[in-house]
Amino acid sequence: MQVCQSKEQLKDFKQELKGQSIGFVPTMGALHEGHLSLIREARKQNDFVIVSIFVNPLQFSPSEDLSKYPRPLEKDLDLCKKENVDLVFTPIPEEIYPEGLDKITKVIPRKSISECLCGISRPGHFDGVLTVVLKLFNLVQPHRAYFGLKDYQQFLLIKRMVEDFNLNIEIIGMPIIRELSGLALSSRNQYLTENKKQIAANLFQSLKEGHELINSGKSIGESLLFIREKYLSKFGLAKLELDYLEARNADTLEIYNAYNADIPFKLFVAIKLGNTRLIDNV
Ligand code: PAF
Repeated sequence: MQVCQSKEQLKDFKQELKGQSIGFVPTMGALHEGHLSLIREARKQNDFVIVSIFVNPLQFSPSEDLSKYPRPLEKDLDLCKKENVDLVFTPIPEEIYPEGLDKITKVIPRKSISECLCGISRPGHFDGVLTVVLKLFNLVQPHRAYFGLKDYQQFLLIKRMVEDFNLNIEIIGMPIIRELSGLALSSRNQYLTENKKQIAANLFQSLKEGHELINSGKSIGESLLFIREKYLSKFGLAKLELDYLEARNADTLEIYNAYNADIPFKLFVAIKLGNTRLIDNV
C-alpha cells in the first residue's frame, strides 16, 4: 500500500494505472466498520482502490468540532492496509486549499435538497462537502465512489452534483452499519459515554417503530408524535436536544405527507447529546 500527501505523488501513481478501474472512498479518517464496508465494496468492484483521509475544514462552522475531530492516522493506515487498499491520499489543508479557505471557488448545492434537515442547523456545511468532494474527484478521477447512507442528505447532494456537472463517476451508496444496540456507527460515537450511547440507540429503535407505524397506515403526524413521546419524553429534552425528526421523500427530500404517500420515504433524525451531534435515518 502506498501513502501520499501531495497531488503530484497522486498523479504519478495514477499514471501507472493505465485505464484500469479505480474505486474511491473519500473519508475524514477515524475509520470504523462503516468505512470498511465501503472499502470492501470498492475492492470487489475495481482494479484499484484509493482512500482519502482529509478532515475538511471547509465543511465545519467556527462553532463545530474541527480541532477536536479524531485523527488516528496510524491506526487508519493499518486498517486500510488490512483491507488491501492500494493508495491512501492524506493531504494537509494547504495541499487542497493552497490559497486558504477564503479565496476558493465553491460548489453551490441544489437548494431543494440542501435547504432542509442538516442544511438548516449547519449552514454552509454542504457547500464545503461538495467543494472538497469535487476537488477530490478531479484529482483521483475514479470510476466509482462510495458513500455511507447514514449521511443520506450528503449522498443525495453528491449524486445530484455528479449528474448536474456531467461527471462520469458512478456514485454508490452503502447501507448503514450499526452496533448490536442499533446505534449507527459514526466517528463521533467515540465522544459518547455508555449512557449516551444507550439513549442514541433507543432513538434508533423508536425511528424503526415509527417507520413501521407509517407503513401500516398510521398517519405521519401521529407516528412522529409516537416517536417523540415514547423516547424523547422518556429521556427528557434536558439530556437530548432534538434538532429534527421528519419524514421526507427519499428521492427529493420533499416533506412526505398524505398527498405523496405512494412514494418511498425516509424518517430522518438529528440530535445533540451534550456537545455531540448525531444523525440517523431509516
Ligand atoms: O462523509 C464524510 O466523511 C465527508 O463529508 C466527506 C464526504 C469525506 C467529505 O469531506
